[in-house]
Amino acid sequence: MLSIILLLLLVFFLVDPLEAWNSRPFPFPQPEWQKVALQRRSFLSSATAMLTSAVLPVDSVVASDSDNQNLIDVYFGCGCFWHVQHEFVEAERKILGRNDEQLTSRAAYAGGRLGMKDSKVCYHNVAQISDYGSLGHAEVVSVKIPKENFSDFAVEYCKLFRNGMRPDQWGDRGLEYRNLVGFMGGAGSDLVMQLIEASKATGDQLDFAVGRGGDATAKGGADSDIPRLVWIMDSDVYPAFVAENYHQFHDGFMFGEDYSNAYNSLAQMFAKLGEDFGKCPRV
Ligand SMILES: *[C@@H]1O[C@H](CO)[C@@H](O)[C@H](O)[C@H]1NC(C)=O
Repeated sequence: MLSIILLLLLVFFLVDPLEAWNSRPFPFPQPEWQKVALQRRSFLSSATAMLTSAVLPVDSVVASDSDNQNLIDVYFGCGCFWHVQHEFVEAERKILGRNDEQLTSRAAYAGGRLGMKDSKVCYHNVAQISDYGSLGHAEVVSVKIPKENFSDFAVEYCKLFRNGMRPDQWGDRGLEYRNLVGFMGGAGSDLVMQLIEASKATGDQLDFAVGRGGDATAKGGADSDIPRLVWIMDSDVYPAFVAENYHQFHDGFMFGEDYSNAYNSLAQMFAKLGEDFGKCPRV
């Protein structure tokens, strides 16, 4: 009984993460249950975060590329990762002038509390092996970029939304499709302000909250994909796990997302170059 009272007291004194990170006020009043759920979750997950950070590999800074620049690992997610990967490939070409072999955008899974299971994270499969959804992950695109060019990529991310909505907002719904952005240090990073500025510069469509891993709402299901809300993740604690080769450089499913064969064939090119896309089942 005493421990329950102590827990309630602790929960009571926690700061609501949504209050702290809104770039603009929530357009609708937040229901009481949701506030409580968020507070409670932030307490529970920070305990889990400490545990996972001790176990998961820290792989946030890549030493250098051919230009000897320091690259950072970041990831961006909003809905299905297929079209998001295409847009970030375009951004790598446009912003950084990268050629095919220099492209680092990869379809990936991130944002869950449970990391990998049996050394892998997989798309939904018949045998339900290491299912990304059950591990709390969402579909994202990971990319390695110079830190000083983050804000240009953040702008490209924010431009994927219309009035805060994704093109697939009402089709692909649920925890697997929630919006998130990850980088080293997460909410403690100076990149947060750049992300919020990028959002303001592109119509101020989005709100931001501190992700604690597997961020579901109390109601769960489709409800866990909150429109206009982006979770900011600490990629040191919640790294991205590359998706299967068959999800890489894939056509989007919306009209006009039938990409070129040259684009699609990049998946085979990187596999031939020896890149490891894991050992998840094909179906
Ligand atoms: C990357 O950012 C730096 C610093 O803002 C800038 O000087 C440089 O031009 C940017 N690179 C590209 C390719 O935009």
